[in-house]
Amino acid sequence: GAAQGIGLGIAERFVREKVGGIAILDWNADAVEAAGERLRAMGGGKVLALRCDVSDYGAVAEVMGRIEAEFGRIDILVNNAGITRDAMFHKMTAEQWRAVVDVNLNGTFNCTHSVINGMRDRGFGRIVSIASTSAYGNVGQANYAASKAAIIGFMKTLAKEGARKGITANAIAPDFIDTDMMRAVPADFLERRILEAPMRRMGSVDELASACVFLASDEASYVSGVCLDCTGAIRT
Ligand code: CAA
Repeated sequence: GAAQGIGLGIAERFVREKVGGIAILDWNADAVEAAGERLRAMGGGKVLALRCDVSDYGAVAEVMGRIEAEFGRIDILVNNAGITRDAMFHKMTAEQWRAVVDVNLNGTFNCTHSVINGMRDRGFGRIVSIASTSAYGNVGQANYAASKAAIIGFMKTLAKEGARKGITANAIAPDFIDTDMMRAVPADFLERRILEAPMRRMGSVDELASACVFLASDEASYVSGVCLDCTGAIRT
């Protein structure tokens, strides 16, 4: 999900933090290639930009294998790919439910599953998954909320399982971050939410990326199994 929005913002931030190498995945081939060019232009060193549908287990395994072959190892995984198919639950179709769970939750499983053994073998790993405050309930988002709540439970479990293997696993729950996904909600709804927000604004992608960089850093070696709300004091 790194061709735009939060995923791209996090990738840009990792470039600025001078990580050794970076691989970005997205199901939109043209967009991910353009994002890769942008990261290289920022001086991102080795940047792999790969088309991949994270809901496809086999495709993810193949792509992660290519990344490991290229870089030697994967130390940090950010699970960010996410889609919405908002509808009141009584109007929600099975297709809308499955599409969201397939990308948001199964995508997180697929990516994590394909890197976990390498991290265990090397005794080091940082896994950060982007959840959402929708996990705590949000009208029109039963599918999305279920997928994001599951991610939080998944990370908390992985944190316990990885604790003696040098692996930390955490989630971040953004509320309203200024992305195209946010701007797709009905305009009057968004306007009202901003007026009601304690900071009277959405969060920026870079503010969210700061939380991600922290959880992926050596500074966060004793922070594992948390869900860090990044909300500007909404819903705390
Ligand atoms: N609580 C209870 N009932 C509510 C409600 C609320 N907050 N809001 C609306 N309703 C009711 C309405 O009063 C209406 O009731 P009646 O049928 O009895 O009149 C009913 O729900 C349906 O309302 P609409 O006609 O507006 O329904 P709709 O089907 O056209 O649209 C919706 C509903 C899809 C939920 C739409 O309002 C919407 O898109 N809302 C935004 C959802 C949202 O927050 N998305 C977040 C996207 S960003 C993101 O996901 C990132 C992240 O991590 C946060």
